[in-house]
Amino acid sequence: MTNKPIKMSANGVQVWYGDTHAIKDVSVDLEDRTVTAFIGPSGCGKSTFLRCLNRMNDTIDICRVEGDIHLDGQDIYDRRVDPVQLRARVGMVFQKPNPFPKSIYDNVAYGPRIHGLAPTRADLDQLVEEALRHAALWEEVKDRLTAPGTGLSGGQQQRLCIARAIATQPEVLLMDEPCSALDPIATGQVEELIANLTKDFCVAIVTHSMQQAARVSQRTAFFHLGNLVEYGETGQIFTNPVDKRTESYITGRIG
Ligand SMILES: Nc1ncnc2c1ncn2[C@@H]1O[C@H](COP(=O)(O)OP(=O)(O)OP(=O)(O)O)[C@@H](O)[C@H]1O
Ligand SMILES: [Mg+2]
Repeated sequence: MTNKPIKMSANGVQVWYGDTHAIKDVSVDLEDRTVTAFIGPSGCGKSTFLRCLNRMNDTIDICRVEGDIHLDGQDIYDRRVDPVQLRARVGMVFQKPNPFPKSIYDNVAYGPRIHGLAPTRADLDQLVEEALRHAALWEEVKDRLTAPGTGLSGGQQQRLCIARAIATQPEVLLMDEPCSALDPIATGQVEELIANLTKDFCVAIVTHSMQQAARVSQRTAFFHLGNLVEYGETGQIFTNPVDKRTESYITGRIG
């Protein structure tokens, strides 16, 4: 165990979609400046749990969430919390790159504009450049910032979406299989970027690639049938799992 501060803390989280009990009493602490990987077989609830962390499940009508989730000690499901403000603090990157049908510049400027983060055009220019540099995309796009974001390659689009997510200066970044639509080179670039993000953010990443989890994360949580079966230091989970189900999964017997 490291002694980094806890950024997000989930306690007794339960999720239902109608009658389907998708998350069963999950408690987990996410450390700051750490990459935590969520792994487990398809349908075990990884995306569902990730979406609880910035209340994206609120947008699904039949979805019901119970339990407590705290960000810096504050209950994110409290009535007084505005989900839009919350999502500026807890950003998300999806499986399929989904740039807005806008220019590269406007994709990144979108969040800062909504949240009033840049008083002048010069401030906004600077914010956009910083986010693109941080996402390791600046050099490739600096001469075509007015071109459409959808005209970039898949890997570039995903880095653009990461730039868009970090432009609002979130504290937590949630990534749901961010490399599954990318080739090995783009995957390598995004993984390198994730490693750099750890310096500033608390990152939670869902992945089906155990190699990827081992490369990018310091902590790993293994989900199975809606339960959090095992959670610990990534090296330990992969070399010396405590639970039989974790062992079966990482050795390829289930999933
Ligand atoms: N919008 C939804 N409506 C109804 N049921 C849902 C919805 N989203 C997920 N579920 C159900 O909740 C359970 C968990 O699904 P979830 O998408 O969280 O799994 P996952 O671990 O992310 O799987 P995968 O690895 O395939 O992405 C599944 O039984 C799924 O069918
Ligand atoms: Mg999923």
